[in-house]
Amino acid sequence: MSIHTDKVAKKVTLSTLSKMKGVEPITMVTAYDALFAKLFNGSVDMILVGDSLNMSFLGKEDTLSATMEQMIYHTKAVCNGATLPLVILDMPFGTYTNESDAVKNATRAYQETNAQAVKIEGGKDRANIVKALTSNSIAVLGHIGLMPQFLRSDGGYKIRGKSQEDIDILIEDAKALEEAGAFAIVVEGVKEEAGKAITKAVNIPTIGIGAGLHTDGQVLVWSDAFGFFEDFKPKFVKQYCKGAKLIRESLDEFVSEVKRREFPTKEFTY
Ligand code: KIV
Repeated sequence: MSIHTDKVAKKVTLSTLSKMKGVEPITMVTAYDALFAKLFNGSVDMILVGDSLNMSFLGKEDTLSATMEQMIYHTKAVCNGATLPLVILDMPFGTYTNESDAVKNATRAYQETNAQAVKIEGGKDRANIVKALTSNSIAVLGHIGLMPQFLRSDGGYKIRGKSQEDIDILIEDAKALEEAGAFAIVVEGVKEEAGKAITKAVNIPTIGIGAGLHTDGQVLVWSDAFGFFEDFKPKFVKQYCKGAKLIRESLDEFVSEVKRREFPTKEFTY
Protein backbone atom coordinates (compact mmCIF):
# COMPACT_ATOMS: atom_id res chain seq x y z
CA MET A 1 0.00 0.00 0.00
CA SER A 2 1.31 3.44 -0.86
CA ILE A 3 -0.70 5.61 1.52
CA HIS A 4 -0.44 9.16 0.10
CA THR A 5 2.62 8.51 -2.03
CA ASP A 6 2.73 7.65 -5.72
CA LYS A 7 5.01 4.65 -5.25
CA VAL A 8 4.34 1.07 -4.21
CA ALA A 9 7.24 -0.25 -2.15
CA LYS A 10 5.98 -3.68 -1.04
CA LYS A 11 4.20 -6.60 -2.69
CA VAL A 12 0.49 -5.76 -2.83
CA THR A 13 -1.74 -8.42 -1.28
CA LEU A 14 -5.50 -8.88 -0.93
CA SER A 15 -5.23 -7.55 2.61
CA THR A 16 -3.41 -4.40 1.38
CA LEU A 17 -6.26 -3.72 -1.02
CA SER A 18 -8.99 -4.28 1.52
CA LYS A 19 -7.31 -1.76 3.86
CA MET A 20 -7.22 0.84 1.09
CA LYS A 21 -11.02 1.10 0.74
CA GLY A 22 -12.08 4.57 1.84
CA VAL A 23 -8.46 5.47 2.69
CA GLU A 24 -6.53 5.73 -0.56
CA PRO A 25 -7.58 5.30 -4.21
CA ILE A 26 -6.41 2.02 -5.76
CA THR A 27 -4.71 2.08 -9.18
CA MET A 28 -4.81 -0.66 -11.79
CA VAL A 29 -3.70 -0.84 -15.42
CA THR A 30 -3.73 -3.70 -17.86
CA ALA A 31 -0.50 -5.22 -19.18
CA TYR A 32 0.15 -8.12 -21.50
CA ASP A 33 3.93 -8.49 -21.53
CA ALA A 34 6.99 -8.35 -19.28
CA LEU A 35 8.40 -5.15 -20.78
CA PHE A 36 5.42 -2.97 -19.89
CA ALA A 37 4.72 -4.84 -16.65
CA LYS A 38 8.25 -3.91 -15.56
CA LEU A 39 7.56 -0.25 -16.38
CA PHE A 40 4.40 -0.35 -14.25
CA ASN A 41 6.09 -2.21 -11.37
CA GLY A 42 6.28 -0.08 -8.23
CA SER A 43 3.72 2.44 -9.48
CA VAL A 44 0.34 0.71 -9.68
CA ASP A 45 -1.32 -1.46 -7.05
CA MET A 46 -2.72 -4.02 -9.47
CA ILE A 47 -2.06 -5.25 -13.01
CA LEU A 48 -4.88 -6.90 -14.91
CA VAL A 49 -3.93 -9.19 -17.75
CA GLY A 50 -7.21 -8.31 -19.44
CA ASP A 51 -8.85 -10.21 -22.25
CA SER A 52 -8.82 -6.76 -23.89
CA LEU A 53 -5.48 -8.02 -25.23
CA ASN A 54 -7.56 -9.78 -27.88
CA MET A 55 -8.44 -6.32 -29.25
CA SER A 56 -5.42 -4.16 -28.52
CA PHE A 57 -2.75 -6.81 -29.16
CA LEU A 58 -4.38 -9.25 -31.56
CA GLY A 59 -6.44 -6.69 -33.49
CA LYS A 60 -9.70 -8.61 -33.03
CA GLU A 61 -13.08 -6.81 -32.98
CA ASP A 62 -14.03 -7.92 -29.47
CA THR A 63 -12.76 -9.96 -26.53
CA LEU A 64 -14.86 -13.06 -27.14
CA SER A 65 -12.31 -15.23 -28.93
CA ALA A 66 -9.57 -14.90 -26.28
CA THR A 67 -8.45 -18.31 -25.02
CA MET A 68 -7.15 -19.74 -21.76
CA GLU A 69 -3.82 -20.52 -23.51
CA GLN A 70 -3.42 -16.86 -24.55
CA MET A 71 -4.26 -15.57 -21.08
CA ILE A 72 -1.80 -17.97 -19.45
CA TYR A 73 0.98 -17.10 -21.91
CA HIS A 74 0.56 -13.34 -21.34
CA THR A 75 0.11 -13.66 -17.56
CA LYS A 76 3.38 -15.59 -17.31
CA ALA A 77 5.09 -12.73 -19.16
CA VAL A 78 3.52 -10.07 -16.92
CA CYS A 79 4.50 -11.96 -13.77
CA ASN A 80 8.09 -12.11 -15.07
CA GLY A 81 8.10 -8.31 -15.35
CA ALA A 82 6.11 -7.20 -12.31
CA THR A 83 7.03 -8.27 -8.81
CA LEU A 84 5.08 -5.77 -6.69
CA PRO A 85 1.53 -5.28 -8.04
CA LEU A 86 -1.19 -7.87 -7.48
CA VAL A 87 -1.52 -9.62 -10.85
CA ILE A 88 -4.94 -10.78 -12.04
CA LEU A 89 -5.67 -13.12 -14.96
CA ASP A 90 -8.90 -12.28 -16.79
CA MET A 91 -10.87 -15.49 -17.42
CA PRO A 92 -11.85 -15.59 -21.10
CA PHE A 93 -15.40 -15.93 -22.42
CA GLY A 94 -16.73 -19.49 -22.15
CA THR A 95 -14.22 -20.69 -19.55
CA TYR A 96 -16.46 -20.28 -16.48
CA THR A 97 -19.97 -21.08 -17.69
CA ASN A 98 -20.43 -23.62 -14.89
CA GLU A 99 -18.80 -24.21 -11.50
CA SER A 100 -16.77 -27.21 -12.55
CA ASP A 101 -15.29 -25.55 -15.70
CA ALA A 102 -14.60 -22.40 -13.71
CA VAL A 103 -12.70 -24.28 -10.98
CA LYS A 104 -10.83 -26.39 -13.54
CA ASN A 105 -9.74 -23.40 -15.65
CA ALA A 106 -8.95 -21.07 -12.75
CA THR A 107 -6.93 -23.84 -11.05
CA ARG A 108 -4.95 -24.10 -14.28
CA ALA A 109 -4.40 -20.32 -14.15
CA TYR A 110 -3.01 -20.63 -10.61
CA GLN A 111 -0.89 -23.68 -11.41
CA GLU A 112 0.65 -22.38 -14.64
CA THR A 113 1.17 -18.69 -13.72
CA ASN A 114 1.95 -16.62 -10.65
CA ALA A 115 -1.32 -14.65 -10.87
CA GLN A 116 -2.80 -14.00 -7.44
CA ALA A 117 -6.40 -13.74 -8.62
CA VAL A 118 -8.72 -14.24 -11.57
CA LYS A 119 -11.43 -11.90 -12.88
CA ILE A 120 -14.83 -12.97 -14.10
CA GLU A 121 -17.67 -10.91 -15.57
CA GLY A 122 -21.20 -11.14 -14.19
CA GLY A 123 -23.34 -10.17 -11.21
CA LYS A 124 -25.90 -12.05 -9.14
CA ASP A 125 -26.27 -14.77 -11.80
CA ARG A 126 -22.57 -15.61 -11.51
CA ALA A 127 -22.34 -15.47 -7.70
CA ASN A 128 -22.39 -19.28 -7.56
CA ILE A 129 -19.30 -19.36 -9.80
CA VAL A 130 -17.49 -16.84 -7.58
CA LYS A 131 -18.41 -18.92 -4.52
CA ALA A 132 -17.12 -22.12 -6.17
CA LEU A 133 -13.80 -20.39 -6.90
CA THR A 134 -13.33 -18.69 -3.54
CA SER A 135 -14.20 -21.87 -1.66
CA ASN A 136 -11.42 -23.55 -3.66
CA SER A 137 -8.90 -20.89 -2.50
CA ILE A 138 -8.96 -18.91 -5.73
CA ALA A 139 -9.23 -15.14 -5.25
CA VAL A 140 -11.80 -13.46 -7.49
CA LEU A 141 -12.14 -9.94 -8.83
CA GLY A 142 -15.74 -9.40 -9.97
CA HIS A 143 -16.82 -7.26 -12.94
CA ILE A 144 -20.25 -5.66 -13.30
CA GLY A 145 -21.93 -2.88 -15.28
CA LEU A 146 -20.89 -2.84 -18.93
CA MET A 147 -19.43 -6.30 -19.48
CA PRO A 148 -17.56 -6.71 -22.78
CA GLN A 149 -18.08 -10.50 -22.79
CA PHE A 150 -21.86 -9.85 -22.95
CA LEU A 151 -21.44 -7.65 -26.05
CA ARG A 152 -23.32 -9.92 -28.45
CA SER A 153 -26.07 -11.07 -26.07
CA ASP A 154 -26.67 -7.46 -24.93
CA GLY A 155 -26.66 -6.17 -28.52
CA GLY A 156 -23.78 -3.72 -28.03
CA TYR A 157 -21.88 -1.84 -25.35
CA LYS A 158 -24.53 -0.25 -23.12
CA ILE A 159 -23.92 2.31 -20.36
CA ARG A 160 -25.64 1.15 -17.17
CA GLY A 161 -27.13 2.84 -14.11
CA LYS A 162 -29.24 5.37 -15.96
CA SER A 163 -32.30 4.77 -13.76
CA GLN A 164 -32.76 4.12 -10.03
CA GLU A 165 -34.14 0.69 -10.95
CA ASP A 166 -30.93 -0.21 -12.79
CA ILE A 167 -28.76 1.22 -9.99
CA ASP A 168 -30.65 -1.08 -7.58
CA ILE A 169 -29.95 -4.09 -9.84
CA LEU A 170 -26.24 -3.18 -9.94
CA ILE A 171 -26.14 -2.85 -6.15
CA GLU A 172 -27.76 -6.28 -5.82
CA ASP A 173 -25.11 -7.67 -8.21
CA ALA A 174 -22.28 -6.10 -6.20
CA LYS A 175 -23.65 -7.38 -2.89
CA ALA A 176 -24.06 -10.90 -4.29
CA LEU A 177 -20.41 -10.89 -5.43
CA GLU A 178 -19.23 -9.60 -2.05
CA GLU A 179 -21.28 -12.28 -0.29
CA ALA A 180 -19.75 -14.95 -2.57
CA GLY A 181 -16.25 -13.87 -1.51
CA ALA A 182 -15.00 -11.57 -4.29
CA PHE A 183 -12.17 -9.39 -2.94
CA ALA A 184 -13.01 -6.40 -5.18
CA ILE A 185 -15.26 -5.51 -8.12
CA VAL A 186 -14.54 -3.78 -11.43
CA VAL A 187 -17.43 -1.44 -12.20
CA GLU A 188 -17.42 -0.56 -15.89
CA GLY A 189 -19.42 1.92 -17.98
CA VAL A 190 -21.94 3.22 -15.46
CA LYS A 191 -23.28 6.69 -14.64
CA GLU A 192 -21.25 8.39 -11.91
CA GLU A 193 -24.11 8.22 -9.38
CA ALA A 194 -24.31 4.44 -9.92
CA GLY A 195 -20.55 4.08 -9.30
CA LYS A 196 -20.94 6.06 -6.10
CA ALA A 197 -23.98 4.10 -4.86
CA ILE A 198 -22.37 0.70 -5.58
CA THR A 199 -19.17 1.77 -3.79
CA LYS A 200 -21.17 2.84 -0.75
CA ALA A 201 -23.21 -0.38 -0.71
CA VAL A 202 -20.31 -2.84 -0.39
CA ASN A 203 -17.38 -3.28 2.01
CA ILE A 204 -14.97 -4.47 -0.69
CA PRO A 205 -13.14 -2.06 -3.03
CA THR A 206 -14.74 -1.05 -6.33
CA ILE A 207 -12.43 -0.32 -9.25
CA GLY A 208 -14.03 1.94 -11.82
CA ILE A 209 -13.55 2.23 -15.55
CA GLY A 210 -15.92 4.80 -17.01
CA ALA A 211 -17.69 4.87 -13.64
CA GLY A 212 -16.84 8.39 -12.42
CA LEU A 213 -14.75 9.70 -9.56
CA HIS A 214 -16.30 7.99 -6.54
CA THR A 215 -15.22 4.35 -6.91
CA ASP A 216 -12.43 3.09 -4.62
CA GLY A 217 -9.99 2.87 -7.51
CA GLN A 218 -9.56 3.34 -11.24
CA VAL A 219 -8.40 1.03 -14.02
CA LEU A 220 -7.43 1.87 -17.60
CA VAL A 221 -6.35 -0.35 -20.47
CA TRP A 222 -2.71 0.61 -21.04
CA SER A 223 -2.93 0.98 -24.80
CA ASP A 224 -5.81 3.47 -24.25
CA ALA A 225 -4.15 5.31 -21.37
CA PHE A 226 -0.91 5.86 -23.24
CA GLY A 227 -2.40 6.60 -26.64
CA PHE A 228 -1.31 3.50 -28.53
CA PHE A 229 -4.82 2.35 -29.51
CA GLU A 230 -6.15 4.86 -32.03
CA ASP A 231 -9.13 3.08 -33.64
CA PHE A 232 -11.56 4.78 -31.28
CA LYS A 233 -11.43 6.63 -27.95
CA PRO A 234 -14.32 6.10 -25.53
CA LYS A 235 -15.38 9.18 -23.49
CA PHE A 236 -13.87 7.78 -20.25
CA VAL A 237 -10.38 7.31 -21.70
CA LYS A 238 -7.77 9.92 -20.87
CA GLN A 239 -4.63 9.56 -22.98
CA TYR A 240 -1.76 10.36 -20.63
CA CYS A 241 0.60 10.41 -23.60
CA LYS A 242 0.39 10.05 -27.37
CA GLY A 243 2.24 6.73 -27.62
CA ALA A 244 1.35 5.98 -31.24
CA LYS A 245 2.42 9.45 -32.38
CA LEU A 246 5.73 9.17 -30.51
CA ILE A 247 6.45 5.79 -32.06
CA ARG A 248 5.54 6.96 -35.56
CA GLU A 249 7.78 10.04 -35.28
CA SER A 250 10.68 7.97 -33.92
CA LEU A 251 10.23 5.34 -36.61
CA ASP A 252 10.21 8.01 -39.35
CA GLU A 253 13.48 9.33 -37.95
CA PHE A 254 15.04 5.83 -37.98
CA VAL A 255 13.84 5.12 -41.53
CA SER A 256 15.05 8.43 -42.86
CA GLU A 257 18.47 8.15 -41.16
CA VAL A 258 18.95 4.66 -42.60
CA LYS A 259 17.89 5.83 -46.08
CA ARG A 260 20.35 8.75 -45.88
CA ARG A 261 23.09 6.44 -44.53
CA GLU A 262 23.29 8.56 -41.37
CA PHE A 263 22.76 5.61 -39.04
CA PRO A 264 24.82 4.00 -37.58
CA THR A 265 27.41 6.70 -36.90
CA LYS A 266 30.76 5.87 -35.25
CA GLU A 267 29.08 6.08 -31.83
CA PHE A 268 26.98 3.02 -32.65
CA THR A 269 29.66 1.06 -34.51
CA TYR A 270 32.20 -1.54 -33.25
O1 KIV B 1 -10.09 -6.88 -20.30
C1 KIV B 1 -9.91 -5.81 -19.71
O2 KIV B 1 -8.95 -5.07 -19.98
C2 KIV B 1 -10.89 -5.41 -18.71
C3 KIV B 1 -10.83 -3.99 -18.24
C4 KIV B 1 -11.65 -3.16 -19.16
C5 KIV B 1 -11.29 -3.86 -16.83
O3 KIV B 1 -11.72 -6.18 -18.34
